[in-house]
Amino acid sequence: MDCTTKTANPESCKADCIAVGIFEDLGPTDSAKRIDEASGGAVRAALRSGDMTGKRGTLIVLRSLAKVTSPRIALVGLGKSTDFGDKAYAEAIAATVRGCGAGVATLAIAASEWAVRDRGLPWAARALVLAARAARFRTDELKSRAGNGKGDDAKNPARIHWLHAKADRAIDRALREGAAIADGMELAKRLGNLPGNVCTPDYLAGEARKIARQGGMTAQILDRRGIERLGMGSFLSVTRGSEQPPRLIVLRYHGDGKPGFANPIALVGKGITFDSGGISLKPGAAMDEMKFDMCGAASVLGTMRAIAELKPKINVVAIVPACENLPSGKASKPGDIVTSMSGQTIEILNTDAEGRLILCDALTYAQRFKPAAIVDVATLTGACVVALGNIHSGLFSKDEELAGELLAAGREAADSAWRMPLDDDYQEQLKSNFADIANIGQPGNAGSVTAACFLARFTKGQRWAHLDIAGTAYRGGAAKGATGRPVPLLTQFLLARAG
Ligand code: BES
Ligand code: MN
Ligand code: ZN
Repeated sequence: MDCTTKTANPESCKADCIAVGIFEDLGPTDSAKRIDEASGGAVRAALRSGDMTGKRGTLIVLRSLAKVTSPRIALVGLGKSTDFGDKAYAEAIAATVRGCGAGVATLAIAASEWAVRDRGLPWAARALVLAARAARFRTDELKSRAGNGKGDDAKNPARIHWLHAKADRAIDRALREGAAIADGMELAKRLGNLPGNVCTPDYLAGEARKIARQGGMTAQILDRRGIERLGMGSFLSVTRGSEQPPRLIVLRYHGDGKPGFANPIALVGKGITFDSGGISLKPGAAMDEMKFDMCGAASVLGTMRAIAELKPKINVVAIVPACENLPSGKASKPGDIVTSMSGQTIEILNTDAEGRLILCDALTYAQRFKPAAIVDVATLTGACVVALGNIHSGLFSKDEELAGELLAAGREAADSAWRMPLDDDYQEQLKSNFADIANIGQPGNAGSVTAACFLARFTKGQRWAHLDIAGTAYRGGAAKGATGRPVPLLTQFLLARAG
């Protein structure tokens, strides 16, 4: 799907469908009024009949209106203008894309008149692309044609136009940003949705290589031997029970145009391609959802995909430790003590707290790039889902400035994070009688905070933030699937940093 601007009047615009808005309180938008005038009252007739009241989530298509070039006019109910925020706007775009008709290849939306509360027009243009692309996205590559699941509906609309009266370069740029972020989110969703027997650590490495090839980046993939040489005893302890070989994926984007690779932002993503819990085995219910335990890695790769298109003037290194967490005769056991790359020893009291065990070594590794800041992204704790649900990602950082930047990026990108505490008082819980640190705190006691505190032990003296996306990266139940979050937040953060 391709999204571009089109400068035209709604009544004379050549497209298979023109979508114009109707507010419940304000009535028809300007474009709707123009269509009404040209057609001799077709819009007013629809309102008078009660077929369209402007109620949020409604849509009707008027066909073959007199003196109107396009064969279809979609009247889109926008609800009350005073309630028209981010969510109502995205829903209206999605409803338009889904409801305009399967025969519509080119859809022009007069969305420049759909003023979103507290947002400008470039914001709305970017959000249009994201909402339209999300409305059409599915992961059907593992459905068979025989089962009639593959490509079960057309890819229409193939083209969407932001219809406006005069050209605006800020809108063109916003549409380009939207397309890049959508590409990144779709990659993250696809990788998240692919099952553990397809999306293995080596599969993730292959995807990273593809991103590097397309985006002029360098990819370095370390296998078990390479990981051993780095001394990543904590990472390796997690992969012991699995037959799938682990990978450490390192992707470098060199965008500042200066020699060397100075002060990159390091993005670190948890890449557990399946989390059974290991010997501390999880209960069976919904265990399939633990294929989503690589969504941190997927969002980091998706962000690299987005910046490959946008080419911001900044250096970025993505670091993804990838492996499975499975039980076996070789698997790590509760009570085992391992030595991390940092030299700190860790008592593994619960093999299901494995994310922090792979991340701590990746965080130590990140420091060799002398990063301007490190941001790790992980489906780290069920406790974060309890605390924040699926609305906000949990943000943990002692760095006020970095935390502020990430919160602002989340707000701007409509991919919000909520600050959580990280006080040293919680460190108490991680004391071990036999090693430098235990990998869990007290059960039922600030679990997302103690997980972050564990990571903090491996980022001393660094500008570092941690995003716990256990609640936001995917949805369970009937709408099961990865969300592509927090690709918008991370991409916005990098764009803002690049200035
Ligand atoms: N991947 C899980 C966290 C998770 C749970 C993500 C539910 C999404 C939904 C993580 O590896 C894990 O198992 N964490 C444990 C930690 C505990 C053993 C201290 C948890 O949250 O129960
Ligand atoms: Mn786990
Ligand atoms: Zn996990």
